[in-house]
Amino acid sequence: MKKSLSVIILAAGKGTRMQSAKPKVLQTLASKTLLGHVLETCHNLTVDNTVVVYGFGGDQVQSVISNHYADMSITWVEQTEQLGTGHAVKVTLNELPKEGQSLILYGDVPLVSAQTLANLQAANTDGMSMLTLTVDNPFGLGRIKRDAGGNIEAIVEQKDASATEQQITEINSGIYCVDNALLHKYLPKLSNDNAQNEYYLTDIVKMAVADGITIAAIEPDYDFEIEGVNNRQQLASLERSWQAKLVADLQEAGVQFADPKRVDIRGTLSAGQDVFVDVNVVFEGDCVLGDNVYIEAGCVIKNAQIGNACHIKSHCVIDQAQVGAGVDVGPFAHLRPDTVLSDNTKVGNFVEIKKSVIGHGSKVNHLSYIGDATIGADVNIGAGTITCNYDGVNKYQTTIGDNVFVGSNSSLVAPVTLHDTATIAAGSVITKDVDTNALAFGRARQVQKEGYQRPQKKQK
Ligand code: UD1
Ligand code: CA
Repeated sequence: MKKSLSVIILAAGKGTRMQSAKPKVLQTLASKTLLGHVLETCHNLTVDNTVVVYGFGGDQVQSVISNHYADMSITWVEQTEQLGTGHAVKVTLNELPKEGQSLILYGDVPLVSAQTLANLQAANTDGMSMLTLTVDNPFGLGRIKRDAGGNIEAIVEQKDASATEQQITEINSGIYCVDNALLHKYLPKLSNDNAQNEYYLTDIVKMAVADGITIAAIEPDYDFEIEGVNNRQQLASLERSWQAKLVADLQEAGVQFADPKRVDIRGTLSAGQDVFVDVNVVFEGDCVLGDNVYIEAGCVIKNAQIGNACHIKSHCVIDQAQVGAGVDVGPFAHLRPDTVLSDNTKVGNFVEIKKSVIGHGSKVNHLSYIGDATIGADVNIGAGTITCNYDGVNKYQTTIGDNVFVGSNSSLVAPVTLHDTATIAAGSVITKDVDTNALAFGRARQVQKEGYQRPQKKQK
């Protein structure tokens, strides 16, 4: 039978060095809170029980996380005083099953991967496994002491380490998988008799070794997986490591980036073959690009699907939009939530579209606002056309059939319907439905006065 899996996330620290009003675990990396990263990773494992230890700013942490992850069941445990990592885990014992095992993670170590955690769990065959790494500069971190046979015998903290121990370059990530029975047995016995007068979680290693337990150690696939965030520099550097990894994965999958350092992916991006992404493009949320998509510089693309062979010209903002195949957008277009552009449509510069469907082959090429509209196939929306969808209180729908031609600078006052093959004269204000095949003028008739004398300047 599979052992039950709990996750204990330590998140009580204040993060003084961030110089922020926000608790550290609510700082964001790739647009997601540090704690959110850890919770989402755990969500990808089969976790039976998620316990978060909070302290500083607990109300804020709980309200932000509970709002964002309403469907996750989290047990919150308060650690009123930060007496050390061992104490932090000890306060969870009331919530922790006596059987099964626990992953011990940190709210400020956001990038540990689900794969690494699965490996760590699999490595725990005798009661305890831990994630370690050999580094160039181990200063400040706990060192892994091994016996002559190479077995782990203890962890010694920097401040307690002898000169010889300080030479050790294998460090403790602080991430473990431990049988709950051992946590229940060892944590009440921890003492704070050490250089920092803290209850060290690391002391459970000695206790386990004394009980004849062999402690397994594995390394993460990427060094950044065990990096913690204590200040803004570390946060920025971790963000860069993460971006570099996401970009490298996409390059492996065949995406061309003009400059792999000048693109940001704040969420997930999946892309087909022969996609080109120019500099300073930002992807947010979950984005999907088809084959042969070409994205010019400076676009911000969020939670969008973009079909094959689309050309997104520079400086477009695309938010929760669905773009078909062979579509041209921009430059400087703004596609807002619930925009659907069918195949072979064209949306040009300074066009804003919201909650509207643009039918196959239709064009909105210049300076328009299209909101709450359904537009059929092969429609031409002239430059400067505005759907007047809002009366100051309510929103109304504009419906446009197939093959409609809307002359430039027209205002379509919703609710209004332009039936198939209707033609709207330029400069019209359309307040009534227009029939199939009809031409509608909604503008003052032009008058002409012959031989007009311009006003002269008055004589003093
Ligand atoms: C700990 C390890 C050290 C390891 C290092 C990796 C111990 C004694 N030492 O160092 O071997 O190399 O992590 O970064 O465990 N926290 C609480 N409550 C507390 C204390 C800490 O929630 O009372 C949380 C902090 O918010 C932080 C994490 O635990 O997220 C680690 O605390 P930190 O003080 O950074 O770790 P160290 O004890 O220095
Ligand atoms: Ca510390």
